[in-house]
Amino acid sequence: MSDGALRNAADHIRDARTTFAFTGAGISVESGIPPFRGPGGVWSKHDPALFEMGYFRRNPEASWKLIRELFYERFNTVKPNKAHTALAELEAAGLLTTVVTQNIDGLHQKAGNTHVLEYHGSTSRVQCMSCRRKYPTESVSLDTLPPKCPDCGGVLKPDIVFFSEGIPDDVHREATQLARSADVLIVVGTTGEVQPAGRIPWVAHHNGATIIEINPNESAYTYKATDIYLEGKAGRMLPELLEAVLTPR
Ligand code: APR
Repeated sequence: MSDGALRNAADHIRDARTTFAFTGAGISVESGIPPFRGPGGVWSKHDPALFEMGYFRRNPEASWKLIRELFYERFNTVKPNKAHTALAELEAAGLLTTVVTQNIDGLHQKAGNTHVLEYHGSTSRVQCMSCRRKYPTESVSLDTLPPKCPDCGGVLKPDIVFFSEGIPDDVHREATQLARSADVLIVVGTTGEVQPAGRIPWVAHHNGATIIEINPNESAYTYKATDIYLEGKAGRMLPELLEAVLTPR
């Protein structure tokens, strides 16, 4: 990756009125969370059908056991990495408004970003399938599965978007509005294969935003929607991009 690309990306961010970020599992890989696709990916070990809403309704206990093992037990120990921290510092410098993330690990908030749109929900909350009330995950015990609603006794589900479930309307609307109006979008660590989340960079591209992409591998966006491709791992490229942005021209 050339220094010229890094400086070009930094100039666009400095000159932008509105810059936001769109992140995927790749930004959390260096925190120890495996991606879904690619070598060692979650889907190379587990059938995505187990994360269908219908399967959860029919087998809440079995579904919860896998989700607790894959996400909750792991997420309790992981920490934001330098990539998450760089995005938080961009927000603190007034150069990034929002992170739109496909991740459910809550690491952007832990790193300090205050405006995070969670396209696929979050493991930090659970929701009752009967009365629809939501609770912080740490307020319910996951020792006995499936956990039950403290209020109505209904089955609690993780507040993550299962396959065949809809995206939270407010998140989809706000993210799409942002994609239509932003000057710059930083796309980090995503294949761009999953819809409707994967549309966001395309909407931004078609509305004239400059797309900066960070990924060690090509994605659905690279050489198509991407204007500046910073080839490499997020834990290295985002801190370098932050330094280039904060270093006076
Ligand atoms: N830094 C940056 N990108 C990385 C790194 C890294 N260190 N390591 C891997 N990547 C990239 C891979 O090249 C790939 O493009 O991260 C991406 C991981 O792809 P996926 O696992 O498919 O993640 P994502 O695109 O976020 O998946 C979208 O699919 O299964 C659903 O709900 C799940 O939110 C997820 C959605």
